[in-house]
Amino acid sequence: MYQLNAEEFNPEEFLTKYWQKKPLVIRQGFKNFQDPISADEIAGLACEEEVESRLVYKEGEQWQAQFGPFDSYQHLGDKNWSLVVQALDHWSEEAAQMIEPFRFIPQWRLDDLMVSFATPGGGVGPHIDWYDVFICQGSGKRHWRVGDKGQHREYTAHPALLHVEAFKAIIDVELAPGDILYIPPGFPHEGITLETSLSFSVGFRAQSAVSLLSGLADHLIDHEQGGELISDPEREISQYSGAINHADFAMIKQQITSLTQDNDMLGDFIGSFYTQAKHELDLQAHNELIETEHVIFAMTEHNLMRLGGLRAFYFPETLLQGLCYINGSAAKFPAAIAPIVQLMCDQVVVSTEQLKPWLKNRDFIDFIAQQVTAGYWYFSDS
Ligand code: SIN
Ligand code: CO
Repeated sequence: MYQLNAEEFNPEEFLTKYWQKKPLVIRQGFKNFQDPISADEIAGLACEEEVESRLVYKEGEQWQAQFGPFDSYQHLGDKNWSLVVQALDHWSEEAAQMIEPFRFIPQWRLDDLMVSFATPGGGVGPHIDWYDVFICQGSGKRHWRVGDKGQHREYTAHPALLHVEAFKAIIDVELAPGDILYIPPGFPHEGITLETSLSFSVGFRAQSAVSLLSGLADHLIDHEQGGELISDPEREISQYSGAINHADFAMIKQQITSLTQDNDMLGDFIGSFYTQAKHELDLQAHNELIETEHVIFAMTEHNLMRLGGLRAFYFPETLLQGLCYINGSAAKFPAAIAPIVQLMCDQVVVSTEQLKPWLKNRDFIDFIAQQVTAGYWYFSDS
């Protein structure tokens, strides 16, 4: 269980003064911090095909980057390299718990938990990210410099590494276990390891309008919507054959904007789009529908767990009508079970205590059977 140190960090004040505005060092943001996962386990994960990982190091003055899976690290020695594993929350239940203290920001804004293991001198080089990140220092020590937002020239240090030219630091600190550095989008930064280190980055995602529009186009094609052609039965004589006049421009614009006026369609798109997983999920789907008796038994004994990294969201209005979105698709359910479906979307763990009132609800049992069969939820071992 990770908890932010309330003496050092106030979520409300943070959102007002720092979120998306300026970087912040939170000394001992986590008191008595313990790594949720060991460096050996991280190295092991980076040997797996499904896990996104990369090694970054310098050969002389030349930056190098390699993508996993890896089968050995021995040739790298004990200095000047780092290993980054993306979406750690998909692969480690313990590590995923590091996201919990940041739930004061809704999950649709969250991306993933990334970890970097770095030997002394190691780092990924000076760069700019276009997302918000809380870098939580695990074991070891790391020196961080953060510059101000501004006109920084970026360059390709390696085909896989976009670096930024030297910048003046507005933050220059050494982080020790439990310290947190928050960096908003656009602030250049660099972390160089002093003592073999683990850093856990809780990263957020933001979509550009262009990726939303491209996603919307895909959604409309998949759902065979938005195919209406322009219609102009009231057309008047045109004076200038080469012109798209004001009225015509307005008509074409209307064809596009009318799509964005359709809240049902747009809600369906946003729910589906934002619940899509960007990184591979550790899905253990079952071939056959889980039996009802099994679900009832499991519900009495075990907590219901959401698969690491699974995205399940709802709109308050449509939840009450029996609609939510899970892993990129709309999921319908009888409206009466909305309160417990809401808990499944709000919480990673739904306890046996919270499940108890629903034990005799056939609709809920069927819903859970489907979700467990799909591998989206599972029952805890203990
Ligand atoms: C790292 O932990 O090495 C990189 C994190 C970052 O700079 O975003
Ligand atoms: Co960064």
